[in-house]
Amino acid sequence: MTVLMQPQVESFKYDQVSRYINDLIEKGNLKPGDKAPSLRKLSKQLGVSIATVSQSYLNLEDQGVLNAKPQSGFFVNAHAGQINDIPKAAATSNQPRKVRFGELFEEIFSNADNPRIIPFGTSKPSMEFMPVKSLTKATKSIITRYPKRCMDYCFPPGDRKLREQIALLYRHSSSWVSAEDVIITSGATEALSLSLQTVAKRGDIIAVESPTYFAVLRLIEKMGMLALEIDTDPVTGMSLEALQEAFDTMDIKAVLASPNISNPLGCLMPEEHKRELVTMLAERDIPMIEDDVYGSVYFGDKAPRAAKSYDLNNLVLSCSSFSKSLAPGYRIGWVLAGRYKDKVRELKQATFSATSSVNQLAMAEFLSSGQYERHLVRLRKAMREQVEKGRFMISKSFPEGTCISKPQGGNVLWVELPRGCNCIEIFNQALQHNIGVTPGILFSATRRFKNYLRINCGFPWDEANETAIATLGKVVADALAESNAG
Ligand SMILES: Cc1ncc(COP(=O)(O)O)c(C=O)c1O
Repeated sequence: MTVLMQPQVESFKYDQVSRYINDLIEKGNLKPGDKAPSLRKLSKQLGVSIATVSQSYLNLEDQGVLNAKPQSGFFVNAHAGQINDIPKAAATSNQPRKVRFGELFEEIFSNADNPRIIPFGTSKPSMEFMPVKSLTKATKSIITRYPKRCMDYCFPPGDRKLREQIALLYRHSSSWVSAEDVIITSGATEALSLSLQTVAKRGDIIAVESPTYFAVLRLIEKMGMLALEIDTDPVTGMSLEALQEAFDTMDIKAVLASPNISNPLGCLMPEEHKRELVTMLAERDIPMIEDDVYGSVYFGDKAPRAAKSYDLNNLVLSCSSFSKSLAPGYRIGWVLAGRYKDKVRELKQATFSATSSVNQLAMAEFLSSGQYERHLVRLRKAMREQVEKGRFMISKSFPEGTCISKPQGGNVLWVELPRGCNCIEIFNQALQHNIGVTPGILFSATRRFKNYLRINCGFPWDEANETAIATLGKVVADALAESNAG
């Protein structure tokens, strides 16, 4: 979920130092083997304390970027800046398709809750990065103060105070959001499902990113709609040229996309593209379903704006939740449904799926305490470091030719394995070692991502997880050798 143009929260100083060094490496001004600037020199140059530079260098060492040599200083690691990024997707002329996952989906996720499995197959930050104590405290306080309200139904559109708090998250946006615009849902999944059912019916074509979040394909499958996969750039998101072409030749009923941090690519659509996308849709009177669940977990300095903030025609249904930023188990999501507001609310009412009262009230209490913003600052930093370290470890352990996404937010990596690797075989082999991963074929109805994996980096890099990446690298290397031999 995007907190739109929030007041600039000053990022930690050592964070700025890390970015400065990463930038030098990326631009080739610092090469593998080079000595990093001395603590004293950099502290003077950037106007920060020596302790800050030292803390930053230690972090960079932990992420595998720098290497400390006793008495000599810090040196750029051999692997730093040498990770292959995911190449741009080649343009393809995709046709709308029925989605047919059948039982594959259930088979793959049958182990999702097994605590013995290393959770690289999920897509969420570990609870170690969440404010467990303070949210629990808010929940207890709510139950004690309002026991009867907690036990009763809370019908759509949902708790007033919570809707006001959610509207406030958008207060710095160019578009004004009020509590009246917010419909509370049970997670973003329900928001996406209600939105799809509202704007399209069986047989309709829905344009989606490629690769796209598999649950979106799953919803399209269950609703009997057709998915039209639009090529998606690993950095800038859905290709507007490809979408334009599709509009010219097909009757597209809706576009479903995550302009802010897609899953699995982690790409971020530039602001001018978002504006253009919303304008293109307005010209054709086609609704857009925006999935904004990762929008608040961005890595850059500035909060990205939701596509909804460019929506002058009320055609965007913006769906989000606290699942990636706070508490997936509370199942609190929402949709800003624009001109479809009444239809969405009626649909939610019709299924009688009132969202949990306790969780709504507790979330409202937590948000109004002001702790959420502070938590987000910490979470963004933690996820950026987690993902950077994940990239480094995968690049070290996986066979040559592996390409890894460079997400601009979120917690997952999209990994392209050398041709010949079969993600389902690798998934099965990894499971033998109690390691979970998400096979790439789930991210397209065309099964085109056979040699891809999605890997979650949202869990602390402890010894078990680091070892698991090394084991996974071996599993991939063995699968590749076998494929080359056959
Ligand atoms: C892109 C994306 N959208 C939506 C969801 C679902 O969110 P929720 O748990 O709030 O239903 C997820 C969860 O993984 C996701 O990755």
